[in-house]
Amino acid sequence: MAEKRTRTYIKDLKNFVGEKVTLKGWAYNVRSSGKVKFLVMRDGSGLCQCVFFKGGCDEDSFNNFETITQETSLEVTGVVQARPQSPGGFELSAETFKIYGKSVDFPITPKEHGTDFLMNNRHLWLRSKRQVAVLKVRARIVKAIRDFFDNDGFTLVDSPIFTPNACEGTSTLFQTNYFDLKAYLSQSGQLYNEAHAAALGKVYCFGPTFRAEKSKTRRHLIEFWMVEPEVAFNDIYDNMELAEKFVEYIVQCVIADCEEDLKTLERDIEKLKKIKAPFPRVHYKEAVEIIKKENPAFIDGDDFGGTDETIISSKFEKPVFVHHFPTAIKAFYMKEDPNEKGYTMSCDLLGTEGYGEVIGGGQREEDYDVLIEKIKEHKLNVEDFQWYLDLRKYGTFPHSGFGLGVERTVAWLCGLPHVRETIPFPRLYGRIYP
Ligand code: 4AD
Ligand code: MG
Repeated sequence: MAEKRTRTYIKDLKNFVGEKVTLKGWAYNVRSSGKVKFLVMRDGSGLCQCVFFKGGCDEDSFNNFETITQETSLEVTGVVQARPQSPGGFELSAETFKIYGKSVDFPITPKEHGTDFLMNNRHLWLRSKRQVAVLKVRARIVKAIRDFFDNDGFTLVDSPIFTPNACEGTSTLFQTNYFDLKAYLSQSGQLYNEAHAAALGKVYCFGPTFRAEKSKTRRHLIEFWMVEPEVAFNDIYDNMELAEKFVEYIVQCVIADCEEDLKTLERDIEKLKKIKAPFPRVHYKEAVEIIKKENPAFIDGDDFGGTDETIISSKFEKPVFVHHFPTAIKAFYMKEDPNEKGYTMSCDLLGTEGYGEVIGGGQREEDYDVLIEKIKEHKLNVEDFQWYLDLRKYGTFPHSGFGLGVERTVAWLCGLPHVRETIPFPRLYGRIYP
């Protein structure tokens, strides 16, 4: 057994049928029954069953098979066989194995564990099949996000993380020291993106954002990733068209490329296939009528709670835009509709199946004087916004944009009940470990 071995990834086994290869990875599952011993191995690219037959493999390997325990790291050498019934469609007729690292009493076993236990062991939980599938879908979503904008003439720009300004209200700001000054962690890259748009026309920023949300919900993280396009001379309607094309693109990429992962997650993809532009648009006032039928306690003028969003989205098979939210519940930068006093040119997109808001955005106030008034009304410090006001002083322009939350999108497309599984190490209210 001294022939040349090739280090192979499980996903590539189809190219090596009948050949001898070496897989390197971890033991996912082991079992023996007399003369035959089975090891399911994982290497990050897939799962492969390795079969050790007495007489067919190296004798020591057969006799020491029981030293392989769950999550032992090892390499296995053997001949690739096509086996349509086994996971991944291929199997290894194993000859030898070599252990790299033992794994004694791996805490996460196939039995059911409580959420707290799994969250405390998140660094190990990530290795499980479902978590791997979620992270693969997440990576595909991120690639789709970048591809969409890169292929549509947008320039990627980066907004800072340390900021002197509040963008999304002062109640969720994370304050930190910036030498002798105080600073906040960015809640959104939008304000800087408006400066980028004046320089480059069509831009997007993509990075982590931070909000001190003191509530435990299935939709809120303290640290989350947001992609934010901003387009010079787009109005609210152009903005919705951009958002629907963008969301359709992401969903269709995931359906096309993540079939196996979605299967692992038992996601009903028929529902996702229907996500094609155009999406329905509902005025805030219409949305209130819909909500009140099922939640009579809802007060006209209030922001939607999770249940209210679910009521609206349950009426549609596609994601739905709610636009023209009241000025009183929206951020200072939102433009008030000149034809509809008291209502902003804002638009949120609610995902299907009760997933709630995945996009928030709208048209920005471009008038210098109006904007100063808004900053004051929101009790923000005008000094801090001088640079932002300059954008209205030197060649102001109508413009619009939005932010899409990556984790809410991952939860939605994977069909997960909570955002905690959508990011490798979620930062949640009351949890920063591991
Ligand atoms: O609606 P939001 O607050 O909008 C903004 O921040 C705008 N400045 C974006 C823009 O116009 N450039 O947040 C945008 C999206 C939400 O729709 C949601 O998907 C996500 O960011 N999001 C969160 N995701 C997870 N945890 C949280 N705490 C989130 N807060 C917002
Ligand atoms: Mg919002």
